[in-house]
Amino acid sequence: MGKGTIVMAYSGGLDTSICIPLLKERYGYDRVITVAVHVGQRDEEIQTATKKGQKLADKHYTIDARERFVHEYIFPAIRANGSYEGYPMGTALARPLIAGEVAKIAALEGSSAVAHGCTGKGNDQLRFDFVFRMAGLEVIAPIRELNLTREWEIEYAKEHNIPVPVAKDRPWSVDENIWSRSIEGGRLEDPSYYPPDEIYAWSVSPEKAPDTPEIVTIDFIKGIPHRLNGVEYAGYDLIRELNGIAGKHGIGRNNMIEDRILGLKAREIYEHPAATVLLAAHADLEHLTLTRQELAFKRMVDDKWSELAYMGLVHEPLFHDLNAFITSSQGRVSGRVDVMLYKGCCRVLGRSSQEGIYSGDLVSFDTTTIDQCHAIGVSAYYGIQARLVEQGKKKRE
Ligand code: ARG
Repeated sequence: MGKGTIVMAYSGGLDTSICIPLLKERYGYDRVITVAVHVGQRDEEIQTATKKGQKLADKHYTIDARERFVHEYIFPAIRANGSYEGYPMGTALARPLIAGEVAKIAALEGSSAVAHGCTGKGNDQLRFDFVFRMAGLEVIAPIRELNLTREWEIEYAKEHNIPVPVAKDRPWSVDENIWSRSIEGGRLEDPSYYPPDEIYAWSVSPEKAPDTPEIVTIDFIKGIPHRLNGVEYAGYDLIRELNGIAGKHGIGRNNMIEDRILGLKAREIYEHPAATVLLAAHADLEHLTLTRQELAFKRMVDDKWSELAYMGLVHEPLFHDLNAFITSSQGRVSGRVDVMLYKGCCRVLGRSSQEGIYSGDLVSFDTTTIDQCHAIGVSAYYGIQARLVEQGKKKRE
């Protein structure tokens, strides 16, 4: 009598595939159920995961969470101007959703244990573990616990009739969802190595982008984009469409050194064309509609939100509180932003909103609505404390 059933987050790759026999042979489970979650990775990737899961595991689920990912994770990230060390995140946003789906299947199948194929060096192990442990599940992470090498994994896969990807086909490790595509590993681990063009799949290099700029128009309601170039979209398709348009102009590439949660520095490459455009447009609209006080305070909230999102601490009570503030702050963030895309850069050209607190009448060089003389009194007091310090110094000299 073994340990019963375990449910595993499954990608179809080598690591998660060898975990299936390992969970039986090394850990004594009788049944392994695999779960692949569709968050916008290539169709081919999700099809492979489905086929391999059905073949290798005792039972397999593929869950289409694309629209939910956009509405429950990406839209909040846009409203929070979510970014970590200068890039919009992606993997970090998807992991809690994937873990949540796996936990749901565990409950459905009456299993108290779940597994993932993360190593002990990255962020994803912590993001998965947190959500699983929050749900009271036992977590098994064979790759981390058995300290396996790739060479050993390939040998083990062959013995168990698990197809092994050809090394030259996959010299990099890629993780993608509709918001961002990340490429790491292989030669890219040398930070001085220039990323070759073939690693990119969503964007052209800015030098090869069209010589004519393109303007896109995005409409927001309460901080959420709902129209692209005047066409209404549910969410997922807006991002997919914009990835295509902005990617053609070489927008949203990132080549950086990132500080992982554990403290290790990693060389990471990202492409996220739509995210770059939507975040720029949203931030611009906030400047038209929010007060100076709101903007300054929200910057701090956004930073903290981003840090917690990166760490995958989505059930941290503070994260809920920050989300409540952010939701409340977006009530007036509605309107339209026009963005120009040109050779790797995106620039806001114009914006408008019914909720804007810009007043042309007040600020214009050409109007007299405000009596300029009123500013004379303000000016008399302006910086008075600094002047008093200076006067005191002079007196003591
Ligand atoms: N460093 C990023 C993060 O922790 C992305 C990691 C993606 N993994 C990959 N195999 N490319 O969010």
